[in-house]
Amino acid sequence: MTDEPRAKVRTRHFTQAKQRGVRITGLTSYDAQTAQIFDQAGIDFLLVGDSAGNVVLGYDSTVPVTVDELIPLTRAVAHAVRRAFVIADMPFGSYEHGPDQALETGFRFMKETGASAVKLEGGRRSATQIARLVEAGIPVMAHIGFTPQSEHRLGGHRVQGRGADADELLADAKAVEDAGAFAVVLEMVPSGVAKRATELLSIPTIGVGAGPHVDGQLMVWSDFAGLTGGRVPRFVKQYADLRSTLTEAAEAFREDVASGGYPAPEHEYPD
Ligand code: KIV
Repeated sequence: MTDEPRAKVRTRHFTQAKQRGVRITGLTSYDAQTAQIFDQAGIDFLLVGDSAGNVVLGYDSTVPVTVDELIPLTRAVAHAVRRAFVIADMPFGSYEHGPDQALETGFRFMKETGASAVKLEGGRRSATQIARLVEAGIPVMAHIGFTPQSEHRLGGHRVQGRGADADELLADAKAVEDAGAFAVVLEMVPSGVAKRATELLSIPTIGVGAGPHVDGQLMVWSDFAGLTGGRVPRFVKQYADLRSTLTEAAEAFREDVASGGYPAPEHEYPD
């Protein structure tokens, strides 16, 4: 994505990647260790998503997540990376009152965490907030399609933009571009509609369950690494099986301690 492989990723690299047809990669991260690993693996951007509500904080949705909960996680990620572009997710209730509230929240994330941008949900309904943040110098990644903070209004985790709703989705995509967003996440959108949005916009589209015709792909790290228990969405590809690996490791540790196999002499400090 960057000409110099170790150069820090900036917003201009997102635009250049789209122009050059280079696909962008993103993962969520909520802690320093995964951030360091994903950064060293060359992932272009790390989103400190409010999916931390499910992955880290034990909530059953992103709705209860607060700014105060995301700030320490975002700081840990931002301090751990050298190259990846770090984006702070603005949680539910932290920007919907209007541009002034969005700016207050944006300032907190930028001043207190070291993130390089913020993300917020909503198309036309969030356009004035996006414009105010960008005007103040804060880059914004927009997020349309299925927006988890509105899951109760949307009636659960459902594909958005099907049939006659496609034009609504495209209007949202255009509105966030016009408001100044540097990229837009399309979540759970039919591939054909995502393709139309990608062709319509000059900013990159980042797919989360939006098929192959987008400019980049983002996944929640615990999904891609096979750590999430239970059912995962259709669009998830598991690149590892960390849940089995950790379960086996914990069982082996328990059995070792029970049998006296751990600690062995090499783990002891001699007198
Ligand atoms: O919070 C999050 O992880 C997200 C992505 C799934 C887009 O918003």
